Amino acid sequence: MQGKSRLINTLKGETGLPSIWLMRQAGRYLPEYQELRKSAGSFLDLCYTPELAAEVTLQPIRRFGFDAAILFSDILVIPDALGQPLEFREGEGPVLEPIVNAGELDRLKREGAVERLAPVFETVMRARDGLGDDVALIGFCGAPWTVATYMVAGKGTPDQRDAKRWAYEDPGGFARLIALLVDVSAEYLSRQVDAGAQVLQIFDSWAGNLADDAFARWSIDPVAQIVARVKSDHPAVPIIGFPRGAGPLYQDFIAGTGVDAVSCDTSLPLQWIKIELQPAVTVQGNLDPVLLVAGGEAMERRVEAILQSLGTGPFIFNLGHGILPETPLAHVERLVELVRNWQPA
Ligand code: CP3
Repeated sequence: MQGKSRLINTLKGETGLPSIWLMRQAGRYLPEYQELRKSAGSFLDLCYTPELAAEVTLQPIRRFGFDAAILFSDILVIPDALGQPLEFREGEGPVLEPIVNAGELDRLKREGAVERLAPVFETVMRARDGLGDDVALIGFCGAPWTVATYMVAGKGTPDQRDAKRWAYEDPGGFARLIALLVDVSAEYLSRQVDAGAQVLQIFDSWAGNLADDAFARWSIDPVAQIVARVKSDHPAVPIIGFPRGAGPLYQDFIAGTGVDAVSCDTSLPLQWIKIELQPAVTVQGNLDPVLLVAGGEAMERRVEAILQSLGTGPFIFNLGHGILPETPLAHVERLVELVRNWQPA
């Protein structure tokens, strides 16, 4: 049965024309975002002010007519809600007081954590109210592994190795942190669906720095548990996984987690995605965000190549990672036009 949302139809396996939205589509490349961000105070204040966060969620839809809006928030509101206060410093990114061993897990308070995220659920409700029924609203969380890497390092680093070191030295202790994140993230996602989110994405941005056995334990297994729990509350909600950088392990991730779709990073070869992944699930991706900054002929050629390889399968056009702040608006407009006008040969 065909619904009104092209994205949801694609996620249910429809093979007509591709849908399109872009990771980080609300953000600094938009002048209207920068304007609103100035008046909000900090980035986190913006995330926790439903009226403004909902407005930012809608901005890219008004401008570009994407098939989906993504909730404006951040994956790191989870540690913040657990009592590991988060700050975003200008030009520095996220900063948290690091939790470096199992002894420090006592600092985290599971009870009441999801209730402290009530402003996020209100943002979801307000954003849903502001969208037509042809535009889907995507809720999200970070995967436990990726969120843990920030909780342990206390910031973003080039390789997020501190969490890995803890996981190797004390797997039992690290497993307690992961279990806590599974539990809170599953409840958090279910509550987003209750509030009006129709699709969910789980961002495992640091999945690619794990060896295959560690990937099975710290990426696949926790995501599988979240998917199972959310689907027991909401059997019909489509879930997109993003194990960025996982290469051939994308196949294990699909088989092991039960996600409905995967977001492919830029490094995955198009023919490999088509042959190995697309028969199993809806695929999303994977234009290089730098190519969207560059634009021109090079971008046109690659967009055509992506559409030729993947466009007829269940396919969601997206980037391989988030949109960059220096991206020209005209290039985004052109990209949407190319995808909308594309016809299978
Ligand atoms: O996609 C969207 O438009 C929705 C909102 C969204 C943000 N972050 C807003 C944001 C989403 C889905 C995220 C996910 C996120 N956050 C991830 C996973 C995806 C990825 O990019 O790998 C990660 C790892 C984070 C953590 C995070 N948030 C970092 C490391 C940083 C600093 C780097 C940066 O890009 O500035 C952020 C900040 C952040 N999150 C901004 C936005 C719009 C920029 C803040 C600002 O306005 O100054």
